[in-house]
Order: sequence, then structure tokens, then C-alpha cells
Amino acid sequence: MKICYTVDDVRKEVKEWKKQGLTVGFVPTMGYLHEGHRSLMEAARKENDKVVVSIFVNPMQFGPTEDLESYPRDLDKDSKLCEGVGVDLIFHPEPEEMYPEGFCSYVDMNGLTTELCGKSRPIHFRGVQTVVLKLFNIVTPDNAYFGQKDAQQLAVVTRMVKDLSVDTKIHGCPIIREEDGLAKSSRNTYLSEKERQAALILSQSLQVGKALIEQGETDATVVKKAISDKIATEPLARIDYVDVVDFDTITPIEQIKGNTLVAIAVYIGKTRLIDNFIIFS
Ligand code: PAF
Repeated sequence: MKICYTVDDVRKEVKEWKKQGLTVGFVPTMGYLHEGHRSLMEAARKENDKVVVSIFVNPMQFGPTEDLESYPRDLDKDSKLCEGVGVDLIFHPEPEEMYPEGFCSYVDMNGLTTELCGKSRPIHFRGVQTVVLKLFNIVTPDNAYFGQKDAQQLAVVTRMVKDLSVDTKIHGCPIIREEDGLAKSSRNTYLSEKERQAALILSQSLQVGKALIEQGETDATVVKKAISDKIATEPLARIDYVDVVDFDTITPIEQIKGNTLVAIAVYIGKTRLIDNFIIFS
């Protein structure tokens, strides 16, 4: 497995592969890899000749008061995990490599980014879209793999690729959870033992919402209230949002029909966690 630090080095490798007619699968990450990332890499490994993983904590997608500095990093551990899955190349650039002096071009969107996480993280998706398009231009993958845990990100990237005619197929992969239901996330590492326990309220409250829908409830307000009421039973939890939206457009819906995303963001102490489920029609 190779680790490349520059755009040119990645391009050289990928060009060689493409000359040989090999397909490239790509998993963009911010590192501190866990089982969720592993599942994306495994999917990429199965479906492509070559697999590239990027590890880059992208400053552009963090707001001024967010956790850019404290975001966990461990390249050694990440490299071992990648090697174990059979990744061919890690791209691990410095911010200056991705954003050279004078950088002033961005990718933005009118829809999809204003609801859910876009409300409390207004510049987040512009940063995500810009870095993902840059990474796609560098790696030129045939297939790219994203987790459904970041469901809005998955919808945004899917839309961006369609709108901008990017020749990469986007694959959404299921959420990977701890045995007790907590969705795997690099940010779980911020939680104290007490908060880790309290964080179970996210998956538990979603279960309440899911059960209601399975019993035939179609009124989004009823589902949102049931989820919010359950979260309110946990004293360490503070709701950022509980929402029901159309998954393809990320616009709020009143009646549950079509591809529906039920998504929540909840502060447990100072840590903001997200979770969701999607109903595909
Ligand atoms: O999901 C993430 O880890 C990041 O948002 C991504 C897609 C790697 C872009 O920085």
C-alpha cells in the first residue's frame, strides 16, 4: 500500500492503473477510521480493481467555533486498518496541498443544504462539496462510497455529481452501529462514560419513530413529536433538530411517502451527534 501526500503523486499512480484498464473505487474520509469506514472500504474492495482512501481533515467544512483543532487524528492506526482491508493507496495531503495560496473557487448548491445540518452548520456543505469535487478530480474514481449516517451529505454529493456531470457512481452504504445501537462515529471518542450511555437516546428515539411508521403512521408531525419526547427523557441530551424530509431533495414533508429521511442531531454534553433512518419507497 502506498501513501501519497501530493496531488501529482496520486495522479501518476491512477494514470498507470487506468492505462491498464483497471477500475478505481474511492472512499473519502477525515481519518480516525472505524468499522463504518471499514465497511465502505470493503464495498470498494469487492467492486473495484484498485481502492483509494483519502484521509484529510478538511478545514473548509468546519465552522469557526467547531472542532477542527480537536478532531481526532491517528495516521498509523488508520494506515494499518487500510492495509488490512487491501487498500492500494492512501491520499493524505496537507491543507496547503488542497488549498494553495490564492484559493478562491467553491462548489455550492441552492437546494438540499439549507435544512437539517445546514441550519446550524451554514458553511459545512460548501466545504464538503468543494473538497469532494476536488478529490474526485484528483482520484477520478469509477465508484465512490459514502455512509448513510451522513445522509444529507450522501444526498448532496449524489445531486452534485448529477448536476455537474461527474463520471463517478455514488454508492450509499448502511449505517454501522455498536452492539448497543450507537452509530459509529469518530466523534464518539469525545464522549465521557456517562455521555456514552446517554448517547443511546439517539438510536432509541429513532426506534420509536420507526415503530410508529411501521404501524402505519404517515403524519410526520406525530413521528417527530414521538422522537422528540423520547429524547427529552434523557437529561444530558439537547435537541438540535428532529426532522422528516424527502431524501432526494432534503425538503420537509408533512406526509410520509416516497423516499423519506428521518434525521436527528442531538447534543450530548458538548458533543453533537447525528443519526437517522431512511425509508426507501
Ligand atoms: O464524511 C466525511 O468524512 C467528510 O465529510 C468527507 C466526505 C471526507 C469530506 O471531507
